[in-house]
This record gives sequence, C-alpha cells and structure tokens, in this order.
Amino acid sequence: MKTKSKFAAAIFGAALVLGACGGGNDDSASGDKDGGNVDADKVYQANCATCHGGNLEGKNGPELAHIGKELKEDEIHDIIENGKSGGMPGGLIKGEELDAVAKWLSEKK
Ligand code: HEC
Repeated sequence: MKTKSKFAAAIFGAALVLGACGGGNDDSASGDKDGGNVDADKVYQANCATCHGGNLEGKNGPELAHIGKELKEDEIHDIIENGKSGGMPGGLIKGEELDAVAKWLSEKK
C-alpha cells in the first residue's frame, strides 16, 4: 500500500510537470500577436535583474526605471547588444528578445 501511493504520487508529480510545460508551449504558440511572443519582463528578470534589480531599481548596474527618459529605443538596443565599458556585458540576449527588451525599457519613463 505504501509503495503504491508513493508510485501514484510520482506519476502525479510527473503529470503536473508535463502539464505545465505543455501549457506554456501552447500559450506562446497562440500568443503570436503584436510583434512576437517574447515576454520582455521575463527575459529581463532572467538576464538583467541580477545587476539592474528585479524592479529596475539598480544594484551593481545603474537603475533603469526611467531609462526611457534618457535613452531612445535604438540607443538602449545598442547598449544591450554591444555592452558598455563600465561593466555592462554585451550579447546577453539577441534577436527577438533583444528587440523586445529594448522596446520595453524605452517605455520606462
Ligand atoms: C554583470 C552585470 C550586468 C548585467 C547582467 C546587465 N547589466 Fe546593464 N549595466 C551594467 C553596468 C555596470 C552598467 C553601467 C555601464 C556604464 O555606465 O559604463 C550597465 C548599463 C546598462 C544600460 C545603460 C544605462 C545608462 O544609464 O546608460 C542599459 C540600458 C542596460 N545596462 C541594460 C541591461 C539589460 C537590458 C540587461 C540584460 C540583457 C543588462 N543590462 C544586464 C551591468 C549589467
């Protein structure tokens, strides 16, 4: 009895994980509107938040919460792509993700 319920729990757990993955894929496949299906906030959290903070408040990197006031979208795009001498690494994100995050940051005013 004990082993059986353990086994059932394992199957249930695996089904949950698989279900979550499948759902995510479905979402991004059907969310193909307004310029791609990149979640800029998610990309930022995964690649930039360690230095710029989870709320753009800045950490070892400068605050970005009002970056759209200082820099235009293509300037931000350029910095993300090529980096900046004072410790900003270039090439962290590319393509659609880069475009989406540059646009998203340019709207932070
Ligand atoms: C390893 C830490 C680190 C990571 C990771 C990082 N940055 Fe930076 N970032 C910096 C530092 C430090 C600066 C300041 C560089 C300077 O002024 O020369 C900077 C500067 C910037 C600037 C220019 C800010 C200004 O006021 O001129 C932008 C825009 C920026 N980062 C965006 C990003 C984005 C988007 C990501 C994720 C793709 C990212 N950064 C990831 C450390 C980081």
